[in-house]
Amino acid sequence: MKGIKVGNKISKYPIIQGGMGVGVSMHSLAGNVSKEGGIGIISTADIGYKEEDFFKNPMQANIRAIGKEIVKAREIAGNDKILGVNIMVALKNYSEVVKECVKQKIDLIISGAGIPKNLPEYIKNTNTKVAPIVSSLRCCKLIITHWIKKYNYAPDMIVIEGPEAGGHLGFKLEELDEDTKPKLEDITKDVVKYVREIEKEVGKEIPVISAGGIWDSNDIKKFLNLGASGVQMATRFVATNECDASQEFKQAYINAKKEDIKIIKSPVGMPGRAIYNNFIKKTENEKNKIDKCYGCIKTCNIADTPYCITRALINSVKGDIDNGLIFCGSNVSRINKIVPVHDLMKELVSEL
Ligand SMILES: Cc1cc2nc3c(=O)[nH]c(=O)nc-3n(C[C@H](O)[C@H](O)[C@H](O)COP(=O)(O)O)c2cc1C
Repeated sequence: MKGIKVGNKISKYPIIQGGMGVGVSMHSLAGNVSKEGGIGIISTADIGYKEEDFFKNPMQANIRAIGKEIVKAREIAGNDKILGVNIMVALKNYSEVVKECVKQKIDLIISGAGIPKNLPEYIKNTNTKVAPIVSSLRCCKLIITHWIKKYNYAPDMIVIEGPEAGGHLGFKLEELDEDTKPKLEDITKDVVKYVREIEKEVGKEIPVISAGGIWDSNDIKKFLNLGASGVQMATRFVATNECDASQEFKQAYINAKKEDIKIIKSPVGMPGRAIYNNFIKKTENEKNKIDKCYGCIKTCNIADTPYCITRALINSVKGDIDNGLIFCGSNVSRINKIVPVHDLMKELVSEL
């Protein structure tokens, strides 16, 4: 079994734990995944929500928390392991967050929820590697062409997020129709073929990683056979002891049935997959009163957003799930117990 190469490090297993905001993948989950041979990803979305001054000064609290979380995750994983962060392009303070992660010598930045046009600019003369998240061959070509033209730099990895993923989805609502939505398998085949050509052109290896709806070892094997170098998984990692979310959040995953999973319109301006709970039902009929803006998302407008996504995600991760938004992947209804990361990793590689 081959791991995933990031700079001069290589993971034991071809598994990345996807970044999950707000506060779902912090130092505990990411550190333990890296320790167990995968690549752990800390989500930087409102990462400072536990800091005392977060409500007064979210930007400063977030920047401060990045350093703290990376240090704690490294203590768990060890310096020889690969540790990454997920940074959403949609964030207003995107460049400050990227710069702070690079300053903290993070191995890998995975960036989606928008097109990370300028990401290579921030990593010049550093060991940090960068991976855009794409949802189609078109989007992949656009980023690679732009990066090579503007920065003479090809991505260090490509993460493909298909329509079964959790959180925000890089598809239009009408593209997510049950019967006609694109298949991750097909996008993977197309992207792998194109990336192999680019690898020859630029003379560097570019691992392609598939994400969204991947459940077990056989699924992983299927994507490796299609030419992917690994997979990114998130939903299954929520149901671990080490996941940083509250017990109530994890229990909502265990309780979720197939009919509870819905595609919602997020204030970020993209569709997202979430558990259809009382909170979502309420916000469909009435606008939530917003008394404080955290200035987090570029596209969010306090005058017309149905609710504050920062507040809704913080509520759910802390356990107030009736007043919170719970993102999930399409496989959430198959979760029925909480296990240690060690056991989940062993199970996921059992057939490889
Ligand atoms: C609770 C939750 C939060 C997520 N938050 C983010 C995020 O902040 N940024 C991001 O790029 N992806 C986010 N994702 C997507 C995951 O990183 C991952 O790519 C995807 O969920 C993989 O599909 P799976 O959950 O079916 O394994 C989130 C997913 C979940 C389940």
